[in-house]
Amino acid sequence: APGPEATRRLRADPAGIAEAAGLLAAGRLVAFPTETVYGLGADATDAAAVARIFAAKERPSFNPLIAHLPDRASARRQGAFDAAAERLAEAFWPGPLTLVVPATAETRVCDLARAGLPSLALRVPASPLAQDLLRRVGRPVAGPSANRSGRVSPTLPEHVLADLDGRIAAILDGGPTSVGVESTVVACIQGVPRLLRPGGVTREDLCRVLGTLLAEAGAEDAAQPVGPGLLASHYAPRARVRLEARRIEPGEAALLFGGDRPEGAATAAAVIDLSPGADLAEAAAGLFAALRRLDASGAAVIAVGPIPDVGLGEAINDRLRRAAAPR
Ligand code: TXA
Ligand code: MG
Repeated sequence: APGPEATRRLRADPAGIAEAAGLLAAGRLVAFPTETVYGLGADATDAAAVARIFAAKERPSFNPLIAHLPDRASARRQGAFDAAAERLAEAFWPGPLTLVVPATAETRVCDLARAGLPSLALRVPASPLAQDLLRRVGRPVAGPSANRSGRVSPTLPEHVLADLDGRIAAILDGGPTSVGVESTVVACIQGVPRLLRPGGVTREDLCRVLGTLLAEAGAEDAAQPVGPGLLASHYAPRARVRLEARRIEPGEAALLFGGDRPEGAATAAAVIDLSPGADLAEAAAGLFAALRRLDASGAAVIAVGPIPDVGLGEAINDRLRRAAAPR
């Protein structure tokens, strides 16, 4: 059932964008589309507004949030960029990359949005609608994915409303998102860039630009964990998720890839092939909607066929492993 607040659905036109920007500037919560997933926006400089994000999502702990900026220049003013961060920003912004960099005296993103860390996460989304909105707000906008904590990230306005209707002031309706998995998170804070979360920019593309291999999140000094929100079970549908399924048991729903038809698929409760032509970008774009649809079939188990672990497949398999993790 919707919560106590009437959530307005705003159109992606100048009036809708102006309305959304005004609500954000007034400290209210507005869901907005990016090219990856819908974000739950709040003024990142306003701790009271940021606190409302944690309440609406029912986040159990204060994980740090990504601050969104409309362009590279405004993002650079919020943190200290080393040589690797500069190269990555140059190559992939605007786009589905988040950089974790040291905060500076100029940083306006509040402590709560940063979870008290000496660093902060910055992202310049490629979505023109998101850029218009951010430019109008004129301040960094904190934006975790616009789902209730632990649930599947939203790639459609309907997904946002299913989780947050009545808990947020408005949603800016930009239709389906194009990338479908969240941004890649890279930390540039201790000399070597580290991959904290695979996402919309592939490891192969990052390494090509950096000219080196990427260090992994686990490699850092244990006294200073760099990815506090990255470990728990996440992206969880109601159904149990079974990975690397070579056959589908009776009554299971099946999530497949590349035209594979494992034994038992013909009698599955529901079947979705993420990309019959084996295109990983198409598979990523449809992943979260497919998990929600298979969950809605009522099956107790979603059996997932193998997906290649290269390119965007790394992010897809990461999300599926989290969906399958014990809760
Ligand atoms: O594509 C995306 O990144 C979407 C859209 C809306 O931009 N946002 C998103 O936000 O996925 P969220 O909150 O679901 O994920 C942000 C991740 C978290 O895992 C968090 O732990 C990490 O970024 N993070 C944020 N600030 C950090 C910091 N200072 N140090 C390390 N990790 C950080
Ligand atoms: Mg999330």
